[in-house]
Amino acid sequence: MNFDEIISQRQSVRVFSDEFPPKELIEAIVEAGRLAPYAGIVQRERESFRHFFVISRNSEIMTPLMALVEKGRLEIMDAAEKDNMRRRYPGMMKVLDMLYKKSADDMAASPWLIVIAEQAGIPQREQVCLGHVMENMWLKATELGLGAKPSSGVADIKDKAAFKALLGIEDEEDYAFDALSVGYPKFPLPIRDENRKPEKSLVWFE
Ligand SMILES: Cc1cc2nc3c(=O)[nH]c(=O)nc-3n(C[C@H](O)[C@H](O)[C@H](O)COP(=O)(O)O)c2cc1C
Repeated sequence: MNFDEIISQRQSVRVFSDEFPPKELIEAIVEAGRLAPYAGIVQRERESFRHFFVISRNSEIMTPLMALVEKGRLEIMDAAEKDNMRRRYPGMMKVLDMLYKKSADDMAASPWLIVIAEQAGIPQREQVCLGHVMENMWLKATELGLGAKPSSGVADIKDKAAFKALLGIEDEEDYAFDALSVGYPKFPLPIRDENRKPEKSLVWFE
């Protein structure tokens, strides 16, 4: 696949086969994430600020991880109710009722879950940097013929102290988290054309 094909064929894969992709492929995806841009000023005095954790769906930490995601999602629902979101966005809240008030088993949808921790700083750029890391990894997975999808439940975890303890991150620093589910797609992927959201919107000022 050339670069344009990788970009156009990248897609969210949510149903995976049970086969575990070999660790070398997962490490190639992690390496693509490591090389994603970082906030230069924020990380100026740090050499190590981006950490990867590859979690098998069979790992013993998967259950407590899912519990933290479930707790985070309920807190998001509570905050949304308090903000009157149900009146303003009834459709969105209905979807969240279905997705957020149940088991976080979507964390174990694929054989491997790659969790990324990006150390926070001022100005706050860690979440944006995670977006770059995620995209690099997603495109690399596409190139390798693997399926991937964000598992943003991990980004929704509010009890970061408990999550850091679970991952074995010992320092007191603040981190932002995100995660990518990776595996072989269970079904052949549709070939994608350019006709998809968002609609084209481009304004030139010359
Ligand atoms: C920031 C972000 C978070 C996302 N979180 C999830 C997620 O938690 N679960 C999921 O299945 N898909 C998630 N997605 C995938 C989007 O739903 C998907 O990218 C979008 O519907 C477009 O489809 P495509 O990726 O197949 O082009 C996320 C995408 C982005 C950019």
